[in-house]
Amino acid sequence: MEFPLLRARRLRNKEGIRRLVRETKLDLSDLICPVFVHYREGIKEEIPSMPGVFRYSLDKLIDEVKEIRDLGIPAIILFGIPEHKDHVGSDTWNDEGIIQKALRLIKKEVPDIYVITDVCFCEYTTHGHCGVVINGDVDNDLTLENLKKQVVSHAMNGADMVAPSGMMDGMVKAIRTALDEAGFHHIPIMAYSAKFASAFYGPFRDAAESAPAFGDRRTYQMDPANAREALKEVLLDVEEGADIIMVKPALSYLDVIYRVKEITLLPVCAYNVSGEYSMIKAAGRLGWIDEKRVIWEVLTSIKRAGADMIITYFAKEVAKIINRGEI
Ligand code: PBG
Repeated sequence: MEFPLLRARRLRNKEGIRRLVRETKLDLSDLICPVFVHYREGIKEEIPSMPGVFRYSLDKLIDEVKEIRDLGIPAIILFGIPEHKDHVGSDTWNDEGIIQKALRLIKKEVPDIYVITDVCFCEYTTHGHCGVVINGDVDNDLTLENLKKQVVSHAMNGADMVAPSGMMDGMVKAIRTALDEAGFHHIPIMAYSAKFASAFYGPFRDAAESAPAFGDRRTYQMDPANAREALKEVLLDVEEGADIIMVKPALSYLDVIYRVKEITLLPVCAYNVSGEYSMIKAAGRLGWIDEKRVIWEVLTSIKRAGADMIITYFAKEVAKIINRGEI
């Protein structure tokens, strides 16, 4: 009888050896948990298209942030739903804006959680676009001026890191300059460098009430067909002073994560976005997949592709699984 000399299965035949040779391990310190803050009072409201994810009013926010901290998750990223929207999104640089209030509260009550702010305008503008709209399109350079005001206000109110997500040209440099001039040299920038015009953001736009009122975001977010262009965006952001590079979405862009990791020495973050979350939740609810194992597999694949950290709506769930020793 023929028999193989080399047998790969030897390293798979018992749990002990499988653990020893495992190349990629999910860890609590990989996780960033998104948190939605709503201006209304007294609400903890589940997002219909994102079961298990909630919008919190300021009075309910602290319990949630403490729970995240107690699970061992190092960081959160904040998204705001403001009372006041206007054509430029001025709530974003108002000291009494929703994010500013949330920052002050979290820094007072839970100072040990690391707080990142999403820096954008779409949740704060009446038209739902990510900047100042002139003649039906977002004006890049006018938007940069408002981005500067927004980041300085976030920093002044306690943000530990800012994450610009609007895909404006020159945004990282503008933000770095504004932070430095205001004395915030120590605040890092996590740039949404390769952010694609993706249909996977659908549930988030329900959650954050940020769908564009007209048109779409294809004049500023990237074409999903392009990977080399993503590398160009990354190199530009590195030159402009980014501290961490982000690829978004994650699951359909594992090749981009891999290639970005190869061309930069900066840490790489991947955003496992709302649609990626909701698809798994929906299939799990229908009993069509083993939800827990799929979550683990998806996040592991994102890390295996090269992500050093992952923004994910599964953060709390995964932290619980890790803390129970189930993976
Ligand atoms: C922009 C922003 C968006 C997401 C994060 N930041 C929405 C968009 O670009 O339309 C989407 C995140 C997700 O889908 O989970 N403020």
